[in-house]
Amino acid sequence: MVLVFEAAFVQAPEHRPKPVVSEVGGIPVIDLAPIHHLDGSLESALPPELEDLVAQVEAACLEWGFFQVINHGVQPGVVERAWAAARGFFALPPEERSRVRRDEANPLGYYEAENTKNVRDWKEVFDMVIYEPAFIPSLAADGKDADEPIQLRNQWPQSPPGFREALEEYAKATEVLAFKLLELIALTLNLPAKRLNGFFKNQTTFMRLNHYPPCPSPDLALGVGRHKDAGALTILAQDDVGGLDVKSQSDGEWVRVKPIPNSFIINVGDLVQVWSNDKYESAEHRVSVNTIKERFSIPFFFNPAHYVMVKPLEELLDENNVARYEEFNWGEFLMTRSNSNFKKLDVENIQIYHFKKSK
Ligand code: OGA
Ligand code: NI
Repeated sequence: MVLVFEAAFVQAPEHRPKPVVSEVGGIPVIDLAPIHHLDGSLESALPPELEDLVAQVEAACLEWGFFQVINHGVQPGVVERAWAAARGFFALPPEERSRVRRDEANPLGYYEAENTKNVRDWKEVFDMVIYEPAFIPSLAADGKDADEPIQLRNQWPQSPPGFREALEEYAKATEVLAFKLLELIALTLNLPAKRLNGFFKNQTTFMRLNHYPPCPSPDLALGVGRHKDAGALTILAQDDVGGLDVKSQSDGEWVRVKPIPNSFIINVGDLVQVWSNDKYESAEHRVSVNTIKERFSIPFFFNPAHYVMVKPLEELLDENNVARYEEFNWGEFLMTRSNSNFKKLDVENIQIYHFKKSK
């Protein structure tokens, strides 16, 4: 037993999950098949089936910031091997997992004590970057950016066999999908399909294996506390247990995302919110746990290069749509958020609203 229930896991009363979470009228399911008729080129004159797809993605981003995709092009075998790797890793004896444990110097590897908004999450994770080394800014103690970026490398466990290969294969296949989704999102903003791609050269994308063990007090704790994903977009595989709750932007109710075999859950993160100047909102979500079943999920966090300066896209702005955010540096934003999840801090977690321009 790696996690032992204690006060650190207890959510404030207003953030505890209610026993029943609605599954009705859930997030949209979008069939991505039209994308594959196009052999990767999403250029100016769009065929009708693609026009329709872009309209569906736009509607989903506006209404929920979340949707599920089917016919996404990632082969089922690739996903199965990633699941096997995740299950195998979390079934290792705790001492084995601890050999690749994250620490102050390297945020990658295994970790079982993450906080979200200063409350402990009922989960264990394994984090890896998809391109090595990944460059991130080194944040000096006073929070000011130091000169030289830090290079991050993955920590690979000895077992289970084929772990690294399975996850690298999954990362590669999922990255292809990530670029297609990015291009679709650009099209929904009436921008050239590849408008955002340049930000993802030297990307800081990372992948996480989440394991949520059965929890003795699922009424008090959460697998992941309510949060918004900091990056551009997230591609999440979940198993058939269920537990991801999305906050509805229309009525503020938590809605459970129903597991669909061979699908991915997509959500737009904080960066798409800023780039789109609030046309789209990065939706709040959380993970509920239960007393009986362990749950696994694999998020792929598609993130730009650390040096990218993030601000509303110029082409979208005019006198009726003025920039709502000050420019900020992606790497610093990411590391400030990640450090506060690693260590419980007495300060509020950094959020994009901290860069909001005052009216
Ligand atoms: C996350 C997250 C959801 C899930 O890791 O950021 O929201 O279903 N995970 O595991
Ligand atoms: Ni998330």
